[in-house]
Amino acid sequence: MRHDFPIFRHHPELVYLDNAATTQKPDAVLEAERLFYEHHNANAHRGAYRLAAEATNLYEGVREKVRRFLNARSFREVIYTSGTTAGINLVAQSYAAHHLSAGDAILISAMEHHANLIPWQQVCLRNGGRLLVTPVTREGMLDLAFFEKQLIAGNGRIKMVAITHVSNTLGTLNPIADLIALAHQYDAVVLVDAAQSVVTHPPDVQALDVDFLVFSGHKMFAPTGTGILYGKENLLEAMPPSSFGGGMIRDVTFEQTTFASLPSKFEPGTPNLAGIAGLGAAIDWLQKTGSKAIDRHVQQLLEHATSQLQSISGLRIIGQAPRKSGIISFLLGDIHPHDIATFLDQRQICVRAGHHCTQPLMDFLEIPGTVRASFTAYNTIDEVDRFVEALSDAQQFFRAL
Ligand code: ALA
Repeated sequence: MRHDFPIFRHHPELVYLDNAATTQKPDAVLEAERLFYEHHNANAHRGAYRLAAEATNLYEGVREKVRRFLNARSFREVIYTSGTTAGINLVAQSYAAHHLSAGDAILISAMEHHANLIPWQQVCLRNGGRLLVTPVTREGMLDLAFFEKQLIAGNGRIKMVAITHVSNTLGTLNPIADLIALAHQYDAVVLVDAAQSVVTHPPDVQALDVDFLVFSGHKMFAPTGTGILYGKENLLEAMPPSSFGGGMIRDVTFEQTTFASLPSKFEPGTPNLAGIAGLGAAIDWLQKTGSKAIDRHVQQLLEHATSQLQSISGLRIIGQAPRKSGIISFLLGDIHPHDIATFLDQRQICVRAGHHCTQPLMDFLEIPGTVRASFTAYNTIDEVDRFVEALSDAQQFFRAL
C-alpha cells in the first residue's frame, strides 16, 4: 500500500521513520479534502442553503464514522478537536479544574509526553492539588505495583488518572484495560492518551470503560489539525465549556449565555471541515488496510530493527519493555542524537532526535535525549536495513573525527 502515499512517489528514496511524530497521508485522504473544497465547501451548521447542508452532513457523517470506530454509545460522546493536546487541555480545564480541591491529586506516569503532563500540572498548581507520578522501571515499564500503592495511599483523593496507551519515547505498550479497571476501583476518572496507539490498537471505549480518550488525526494518516476527544456522556454533559464562540450556544444576551447540547457545546468556531473529511477517509483507509495487519507488520519491523541494532557495538536501546509498539529509541556511544539524525538525513532517512517532548523522562533516565525511529504500515524491512547500515557508517564517521 506504499503506492497509496504520494510522498513516496515524489521522493522514492525517502526512508520515513518518524511516524510517531506524524504519519504520511494516502491519496484518499488528500482527495477527500480536495473534494470537500471543490464540491461541498460551506460552513457547517450555519446555512439554510443546500451546500451548507452538504457540509453539515459530511461533518456529522464523519462523526458517526468515528463513533463506530471507537464503539462509542452516542454521537454526543464524540467531540472534534484540533488534536490530542487540545483534547487533554479541554478535559483539564472543563473537568479537572472543577473537580480538584486543595489536597486532591491527579496521577500521571513518568512516561507522559508534555501534552499529558503540563495541563494537569497547571490545574494542580492553580487549585492547590498534587501531581503524582508513577515511575517507570529501567526497562521502561510502568511500575504497576507502585501505581496501585499510589491509588491506595490516595485514599479517594486522586480525582483523575491520565495515562498514555503507548509511550511516544520508549514504545512501551501499557496494559491500559487493567490500569483503567484499577483506577476505577479507587473512584478515579481516567483519561487515556491514545495518540500513539490508535493505528495499531484502535480503542473500544465501551469495552475499556474509559472515561475520556483522546487522539490526533495526523498520527493516523489524517490531516494535521484534526483530533477527537471521546468522553462518557454523563461526564461531558456536566462539564462547562472552557472555550467560547459561535456554534456552541443556545441563547446569547450581553448579560449571559446558555450553551448548546452535546457535542456542539465543545466545538466553538468554524471547524476544520476539510480536515474532518480527510479524517473520515483516513478511518476508511485504516479499516480497509486493517489495524491488526498493520500491527503484525510493525512488530516484524520492530523485531528486525531491534536485533539488527543490538549487533552494533556501543548502541544502547532505551526502552525494552516486553510489549512495545513500533517505536525504538537509542543512543549510539557518546554521539549526540542530533548529529546522528543529521547524518541519517544525508541519506534521506528521517528520524527524530532529542527529548521527544518528554523532558522529565529524560531526566529520570539521566540521558540528554535519544534517537527515535518509529514504524508504520508503509515501512519495509529493506528500509530498516538501510537505516541500520547508515548507523554503522555514522559510528565510523564520528569515530574518525
Ligand atoms: N508527540 C509527537 C512525537 O512524539 C510529536 O514526536
